[in-house]
Amino acid sequence: MPTVMITGSNRGIGLEFVRQYAQAGWKVIATCRTPIGVGDLAKVEGDIEVHGLDVSDQYSIDRLARDLGDVAIDVLINNAGVFGPRSYALADIDYQEWMKVIDTNVFSPLKIGLAFAPHLARSTQRKLITVSSKMGSIELNTSGDNMIYRSSKAAVNAVMRGLAANLRDQKIAVRMLHPGWVQTDMGGSGADITVTESVSGMRKVIDSLDMAATGSFYNYDGSELPW
Ligand SMILES: NC(=O)c1ccc[n+]([C@@H]2O[C@H](COP(=O)([O-])OP(=O)(O)OC[C@H]3O[C@@H](n4cnc5c(N)ncnc54)[C@H](OP(=O)(O)O)[C@@H]3O)[C@@H](O)[C@H]2O)c1
Repeated sequence: MPTVMITGSNRGIGLEFVRQYAQAGWKVIATCRTPIGVGDLAKVEGDIEVHGLDVSDQYSIDRLARDLGDVAIDVLINNAGVFGPRSYALADIDYQEWMKVIDTNVFSPLKIGLAFAPHLARSTQRKLITVSSKMGSIELNTSGDNMIYRSSKAAVNAVMRGLAANLRDQKIAVRMLHPGWVQTDMGGSGADITVTESVSGMRKVIDSLDMAATGSFYNYDGSELPW
């Protein structure tokens, strides 16, 4: 069976990715920053290995890449992310908090993509996925607000689009995904869809990815999104 690695897998969308891939019989490398007492993650049944990974910590990334040795990873999902400050006036923007959001949402997926590219290149499927957001679409931004989060997802789209070109020779396909507005701690209980609907949709979109579509930005329902 193929192997999937997921970041931020202790709750929300990441945890649901673990559940669904494990149930489908995949080998799952579930990573989270506090791997001890992982609560709900420990209850998921299947072929699951849990590893500590703070995506903002280069040492943590390099250590896991080294610990995994010559393991092949078919699908790597950069899921971990933060929203950052909410409801702030533009005059009150906290630029230090903005930098932290950029660090987690932009620098980390790139660092992980680079560190684990050799593991992807060893696999059959060779897919690098980043959970981005429609809020990062410049074309769809007509309402303003949430400048910190929006800019981080616009930037990760730009970075991953570039990485797609850089990884083309290794035949690693790259895709950015919008999960929908999802009922998680980040999305809130009033969000449109459940984690089950979101992740079932995204898994189909991941399945359909091939090298011809590398560098693309898709919604969980299978439609392509504008940059
Ligand atoms: N929910 C939505 O409506 C929605 C919409 C569009 C995009 N997204 C994106 O979907 C992804 C998952 O979101 P979610 O809704 O599941 O959010 P969530 O419920 O807030 O979960 C976020 C996950 O990211 C992890 N994380 C954050 N910083 C980390 C770090 N430095 N190292 C390791 N893990 C870290 C968290 O771990 P801890 O428990 O340790 O904090 C947690 O597991 C994010 O990239 C988010 O931007 C969500």
